[in-house]
Amino acid sequence: KFRESCDYNIVLIGFMGAGKSTVARTLGEWFDMEIVEMDELISDRQRMSIPEIFEKHGEEYFRNLETNLLIELQKTSRTIISCGGGAAMRSQNVSEMKKNGYVVLLTATPKTILERVKENDDRPLLKNHKNVEYIAELMEKRREKYETAADLIVQTDEKNVQEICKEMITKL
Ligand code: S3P
Repeated sequence: KFRESCDYNIVLIGFMGAGKSTVARTLGEWFDMEIVEMDELISDRQRMSIPEIFEKHGEEYFRNLETNLLIELQKTSRTIISCGGGAAMRSQNVSEMKKNGYVVLLTATPKTILERVKENDDRPLLKNHKNVEYIAELMEKRREKYETAADLIVQTDEKNVQEICKEMITKL
C-alpha cells in the first residue's frame, strides 16, 4: 500500500520539532522520492530566513506564501512535502494539502519538542518561549486542527527515525 501512496505525495505536518524534516529525508532516500521543504523553499525564494520574513513582513504574509506554495505543489507527484509547523492551521491549507496527497501528522510531547528545538534559533514563534509550558499551550491550541487534517498520526517520542518511518509505511 505504501508503494502506491509513493506515486502520489506524502504531506508531513506537525508541531515544530516533531521530526518532519528528518522523516522526509529518510523516506526520500528509502523510496527515491523528491523532497520539498516548504520553509526552505519559501526562504530561498524570498532570499530571507524565516525569522527575517516574520520580522519584515509579519506572520500573515508568511502564511499566504505557505498557502500559495501548497497550491503550486499540487502539480507534483512522488514528492514528500515537509510543511512548516503552522501550515495546517488554516482550513484552506488543509484542503489544499488533501489535494496534494496523504497527510501524516507527527506528534511528540512538549518535553521531547523542547529537547529537539532547544539549540536552534530559526523559529520566530519560539524565540522567547523555549519552555515546556509555552510549547504545551501552543500545542494544545493547535491539536484539533492538526488531528482533523491528518489521514494518519504517528507518535515520535523515544523512537529513532527508522522506527518512525517503518511505522508510517506499515500504517499507510
Ligand atoms: C512555524 C513552524 C516553522 C516555520 C515557522 C512557523 C509554526 O516550521 O514554518 O517558524 O507556526 O509552527 P518548522 O515546523 O519546520 O519548525
